[in-house]
Amino acid sequence: MTILITGANGMLGEECTKLLSGKYSVVATDIHDSLSMPDDSIIYEHLDITNENRVHEIVKRIQPDVVLNCAAYTDVDGAERENESAWTVNVGGVQHIVNALKKFGGAIIHISTDYVFDGTAGPYGEDNKPNPVNYYGKTKLESEKVLTDSQLHWTIIRTNILFGNTSRQQASFVRWVIEKLSRFENISIVNDQFGNPTWSYGLAQAIYKIIESGKHGLYHYAGKDYINRFEFGLKIAGIYGLDPTLIRKTTTRALNQPANRPFKSGLTCERIEHELAVTIYSVNEALTAMRGNT
Ligand SMILES: NC(=O)c1ccc[n+]([C@@H]2O[C@H](COP(=O)([O-])OP(=O)(O)OC[C@H]3O[C@@H](n4cnc5c(N)ncnc54)[C@H](OP(=O)(O)O)[C@@H]3O)[C@@H](O)[C@H]2O)c1
Repeated sequence: MTILITGANGMLGEECTKLLSGKYSVVATDIHDSLSMPDDSIIYEHLDITNENRVHEIVKRIQPDVVLNCAAYTDVDGAERENESAWTVNVGGVQHIVNALKKFGGAIIHISTDYVFDGTAGPYGEDNKPNPVNYYGKTKLESEKVLTDSQLHWTIIRTNILFGNTSRQQASFVRWVIEKLSRFENISIVNDQFGNPTWSYGLAQAIYKIIESGKHGLYHYAGKDYINRFEFGLKIAGIYGLDPTLIRKTTTRALNQPANRPFKSGLTCERIEHELAVTIYSVNEALTAMRGNT
């Protein structure tokens, strides 16, 4: 089976590229000139999903059985300022992939977010009604519609608060907490945004099970612990042996970020657990494994 991965240099894309390249013929792609993961055995091609001609050309040539779309505009606050850029990647890019697959064949697995919900009554199941409170969430909900309207063999997996080891020095909550606390700096973390932090490796395993099973439809996949960000910070300090008293509580209102945040967000995962027997990891299990691998 051939899998075309977009956004392969991102947090999830890298994890999926690592896991799936041992199992299938994988072509990894991203907007950057090269693969950030140091592995010469992986085939890499430059692909900007906003370039429709290029998406068609690569899908026609590679004939993937599945396109795994991990590419996205993921800067939640940036999306408030740069509406058009966020829409062009998150909706336009997905439309290009869908159009190419309609023409040349193949299935699509697309990643979405709990930010499609308003955060008044989480954690949310697949049957709950979306109602995004920020622009990023709106683009991701619209990206889902592109798939559900497509009549392709589609799978949407919603996740939340992804964390994992990555080669690229991109923004990562876990890395930020570790770096600050290692330098004995105080940090403030909100205690009013709830979700279930999700190990990117666990999600990559779930994606592998979806590919193997041929299942399609809408699934939620998230971690075991339903906690707020402050509590997540404490867990990071605990596992990495750092001083938790350096972490102060703050509120979303005090941070005054450009994008509204869903407060009681997060996801329930009974459907994917029941149908695919996936492993749902706790934050401590994931952080312990990550610490062992750095
Ligand atoms: N991270 C989370 O907490 C979280 C939570 C819920 C859902 N998700 C969803 O999960 C998926 C993966 O997220 P992630 O955290 O792995 O994201 P990420 O680390 O930001 O990775 C996305 C990758 O896509 C690339 N990219 C951006 N624009 C592109 C374009 N036009 N064409 C091709 N590649 C492009 C990015 O490059 P640049 O870095 O240079 O932009 C990056 O390498 C996304 O769909 C996201 O919405 C993430």
